[in-house]
Amino acid sequence: MAIVCKSAAEIEKMRHSGRIVREVLDHLRTLVAPGVSTMDLERAAEQKMKDLGAKPAFKGYYDYPCVLCTSINDEIVHGIPSAKRVLKAGDIVSIDCGVVVDGYYGDAAITVPADDSITPELHKLLDVTEASLYRGIEAARIGNAVGDVGAAVQEFVEANGFSVVREFVGHGIGTRLHEEPQVPNFGTRGHGARLREGMVLAIEPMVNSGQPGTRVLDDKWTAVTVDGSYSAHFEHCVAVTRDGPMILTQ
Ligand code: MF3
Ligand code: CO
Repeated sequence: MAIVCKSAAEIEKMRHSGRIVREVLDHLRTLVAPGVSTMDLERAAEQKMKDLGAKPAFKGYYDYPCVLCTSINDEIVHGIPSAKRVLKAGDIVSIDCGVVVDGYYGDAAITVPADDSITPELHKLLDVTEASLYRGIEAARIGNAVGDVGAAVQEFVEANGFSVVREFVGHGIGTRLHEEPQVPNFGTRGHGARLREGMVLAIEPMVNSGQPGTRVLDDKWTAVTVDGSYSAHFEHCVAVTRDGPMILTQ
């Protein structure tokens, strides 16, 4: 499959899906607190999507069982919501949410502290990961390459003493959740596919406080850091336009 470029009308539809994703995430953020389980977040997300007339994008995708991915502390991505996973003071949780509205997908993620008792190091991990997303977004310009996006993320993360995950990457998005191209959070400037007008990329840095290595738990989904270090994850969908990068999930 080749990279699919979107018309202005399609990008408007994706902006609508993206706004709904953001509305769900904004709501979930207010619920996060010690004592809340990741199943509580799942239930709230399901209800909110229903209220907003959106269908979940993840549930049933390769048999994934939930509408959210919720990944706590050393979990990187694809944590499965569970009533047994209860947030504690000092935890961080990545909430990844995707919807489809009128045939077009939206996908975004945030990482939030359970409360204000997280360590300064964790606070820095969240700030650096989110800022690295914006470095990547700034590079999503016509004429740049996919490698420029990855390099922008990687250079910023590594300059701040953290590491980028290699085994999971961002992606094109549109009428499918995952389209070409893959969008790694590492790379070499000028390398990879050239960005053209109308491409839409889900840029999603996954940043570890320690080593970059990952492994997947026996549940076949949850990706964790090999060294037990913390991991953060932020994601936006971004359209490559003549006026520069346009964030669709805000
Ligand atoms: N945001 C993640 C991604 O783009 C979520 C996918 S989880 C899955 O890969 F369950 F849908 F696979
Ligand atoms: Co994604």
